[in-house]
Amino acid sequence: MNFANHLPTDELQKLDAAHHMHPFTTNEELAGKGARVITRAKGVFLTDSEGNEILDGMAGLWCVNIGYGREEMAEVAARQMRELPFYNTFFMTTHIPALTLARDLAALAPGDLNHVFFAGSGSEANDTNIRMVRTYWAQKGKPGKSHIISRKNAYHGSSVGSGSLGGMTYMHEQGGLPIPGVHHINQPDWWGEGGDMTPEEFGLARARELEEKILELGADNVAAFIGEPVQGAGGVITAPSTYWPEIQRICDEHDILLIADEVICGFGRTGNWFGSQTVGIKPHIMTVAKGLSSGYQPIGGSIVCDEVAAVIGACEFNHGYTYSGHPVAAAVASENLRILREEKVVEHVRDTAAPALKAALERIAEHPMVGTPNVAGLMASIPLTPHKESRAKFAADKGTVGYMCRERCFANNLVMRHVGDRMIISPPLVITPEEIGVLESRALKALDETYAKVREEDLLKAA
Ligand SMILES: Cc1ncc(COP(=O)(O)O)c(C=O)c1O
Repeated sequence: MNFANHLPTDELQKLDAAHHMHPFTTNEELAGKGARVITRAKGVFLTDSEGNEILDGMAGLWCVNIGYGREEMAEVAARQMRELPFYNTFFMTTHIPALTLARDLAALAPGDLNHVFFAGSGSEANDTNIRMVRTYWAQKGKPGKSHIISRKNAYHGSSVGSGSLGGMTYMHEQGGLPIPGVHHINQPDWWGEGGDMTPEEFGLARARELEEKILELGADNVAAFIGEPVQGAGGVITAPSTYWPEIQRICDEHDILLIADEVICGFGRTGNWFGSQTVGIKPHIMTVAKGLSSGYQPIGGSIVCDEVAAVIGACEFNHGYTYSGHPVAAAVASENLRILREEKVVEHVRDTAAPALKAALERIAEHPMVGTPNVAGLMASIPLTPHKESRAKFAADKGTVGYMCRERCFANNLVMRHVGDRMIISPPLVITPEEIGVLESRALKALDETYAKVREEDLLKAA
């Protein structure tokens, strides 16, 4: 067996606990438990240090769109490292991988989104966006137009700027976020917050909070609105159909730039190349990362429309990262786009995988503890509830049952994340209907085991 060519698992775990600080983790708690050590992966399956095969229902962190283990990606990276492992793009120089990828993205992106500012991650790209939209308005003689409106429970990254754009209160509680000039309106989460309204009424009401906020701040003070076409880390929240058209109208009428954060939705996740196409909006800037390289290399960027690029291009934009357009990352991303295009992965999502997942979710929704799933292409959330008809929440602390279910999933060799009491699915886009069948049966087993435990511990009470 080829998984045994390393230290025993408990030694690896001890080393990890001694020296490695994990993101978004209580490291002390993890040290007591021992991290699961992932050693290799192929297709949609991970292998851990004990040789278990785990179906990765999260595509890593919503990013391994083409699946694991693609030789072509390794080849391209090795070739690029030999030829030109690094050069910058700051001082009147460029290189072939960066310009090729920029060209490829301009061709793929809708409308006149024809220009790319590269970053190393989604967080960095959103930091770029903050400075870019403020610089844009300042260059146009309106420096007061600097406020940015986002949404509660949005996720836009973890740096000071992008974490401020995000609407996660537990992140704002640490490190003095948000920065000044960022405002958060309510999210369009009908399942969780819609009360007695129809989804359509609720979608309109939540979109109009944007207009109220713009009027409160004054349109002359607002630079941009940012939103994920489908909120990912917040719990796969698909807005009601009335929401995004109204957001577009409001941005247009008040002359506010619209930034679509496509870090999760981009590159096929929702069944179109970009989530903006799925929800029918025309952003001025799209943030991309994750699926841009299918996670094989860290790379992100802002895809920018002609007008914004022209205004920014007329001044020296004092911004950039050492690894903006990194040649190895850019070459690997271009190869990833080639695979997505030539293997018709987006069409596979739309015509095959998404319908299969939807059908599986309909069966899963028959489970007594499961409410109506939110689904957009190959991203979905399954709300856990003590009473599905009333969309009730558990009386126990938020996330208690979700965490139990996540643990049962892991024990059954399925990665499903939980956000509060919602279970999240976002598998590699190349997943087959047969593999979705495996995902379904493991999920149902985990749900049954969670349900038994919830009843045993008397947690099936509504808040
Ligand atoms: C919508 C969205 N934007 C931005 C980010 C931040 O990307 P990164 O983790 O690459 O900095 C994420 C990460 O999950 C995301 O989901």
